[in-house]
Amino acid sequence: MLTSHIISTADWTRQDIDFLLSLGESMIPHADNRRFSAQFPDRKAVLAFFEPSTRTHKSFKQAALNLGMRIDEFSGAEGTSLMKGESLADTGRMIAGQGADVFVLRTTIEGGPRWVAHVIQESEGRKKIVWVLNGGDGRNQHPTQTLLDLLTIKIRLGRLENFRIGFVGDLANGRTAMSLLQALRHYEGVEVVLVSPKGTELPAQYKIGLNIIRESESLDALSDCDVVYVTRFQLERIQDPILRREVQGKYIINAKVLNTWKKTVLIMHPLPSVAEIAPDIKNDPRLIAYNQADNGIPVRMGLLHRPCVAEFIPITRPAQVACLARNEEQQISNERKPVKHFQPIVDGTVIDHIPPGSATEVVRMLCQSGCLEGDRPRQLVQYVKSREYEGMKDVLLLHHLVIPDAIAATVQLFFPKITINQLPDNGTIVKKGYTYPKLVESVFPCPNAACVTNHDPEAKTIFVVSGDQRNLPILTCYYCERLFARETLTGSHHQ
Ligand code: NCD
Repeated sequence: MLTSHIISTADWTRQDIDFLLSLGESMIPHADNRRFSAQFPDRKAVLAFFEPSTRTHKSFKQAALNLGMRIDEFSGAEGTSLMKGESLADTGRMIAGQGADVFVLRTTIEGGPRWVAHVIQESEGRKKIVWVLNGGDGRNQHPTQTLLDLLTIKIRLGRLENFRIGFVGDLANGRTAMSLLQALRHYEGVEVVLVSPKGTELPAQYKIGLNIIRESESLDALSDCDVVYVTRFQLERIQDPILRREVQGKYIINAKVLNTWKKTVLIMHPLPSVAEIAPDIKNDPRLIAYNQADNGIPVRMGLLHRPCVAEFIPITRPAQVACLARNEEQQISNERKPVKHFQPIVDGTVIDHIPPGSATEVVRMLCQSGCLEGDRPRQLVQYVKSREYEGMKDVLLLHHLVIPDAIAATVQLFFPKITINQLPDNGTIVKKGYTYPKLVESVFPCPNAACVTNHDPEAKTIFVVSGDQRNLPILTCYYCERLFARETLTGSHHQ
């Protein structure tokens, strides 16, 4: 269901996109008049642009003015308590407390808007309803830009299906291309061409569900596209000085280049353009970037109008799956076998076949997930040391502790060979195998340094697990939306 918050194009269905586009489309005449028929002087929009912005900020402002809303705004983090180390969560709480109905947030912190939407919604004792709109979060998402991009294609090309679109420039660090590509997955017959230099290619996760017909470093690959979406190299996000130098001025779309492309090609650009759009095509009718930017006003009027008239639909965190035991591997036996190498435990859990040397990591995971108390173990943790096992495996005895299924499944996700024997105090032994858990919560930090979970100690990590036992699991950070392989999480943790 489309929530009230506009956080990420990855949240949307085809119906959601079509609905949001229709809102924007219906606002075009009112944007031209610079006044909507109804006015909302009691509604307050806070426009917080903690990262540089011209178009997004000012088109949101014009949209709010056209709707007669009250406006409060920030340009840059300078002059705010963010500079003193205040968290985005507390900033959001203040903005909500001071009467915002809509909070448009642009931040370098990836996943910040999603996190703030949860924080404000869940603020204890406050009934305040605030709609959070993501105005761009670092390298991650720019959903309102996607809507104006789609609206522009729909108007200029006459359709959102059956066309060929090329993306050129920095496809690794620019959020506009990634957001748009995720939305385009929902449209039939869209063929995608990707052009970027080595080091700034589109990350694999954004290719999922797309029909990518060509990938190249050369502008020639774009010659048969109906639309070419040009992007700026995001130098502020490229750390490597050699790469920065290599990509600067790499792609310049000028009249000569344009003549080698389809005669009817539409050149889009989210802007700002630094050198990509040459002066000799600035007035070429095929360049529609400025008209594209103008479409930001009706689109954002549509988005700001919703909080003035529609019912609030909260965002919900993904939930853990309740039953995780794989039935076929669950054996209940009434007889406990004699234990050779360690003292039998009366009741609790035996975790067996842990890779040698990894028992401490298992204990750490259990502590992090709150099922074991770290420094003062309530439960007796016993690392089995036996000459017979030496170098083969670790075994962990957890006296008086039966691990919840979701946590046991999480440990098994990262150490697939382990077996978990639960020994309740009725003399039975239950051996369990688990399907992948749906979520991994609080166990590993997010390897993405820009993720909100690395900037706000209140924000606990949540990875959504995809894949089943036949495939390797993929973990997606719920906030910054990056995908990670299992090994990346364990590896980054040990660094
Ligand atoms: C873009 C952004 O901020 O992501 N600009 C925009 O919002 N129109 C693109 C960019 O900065 O290159």
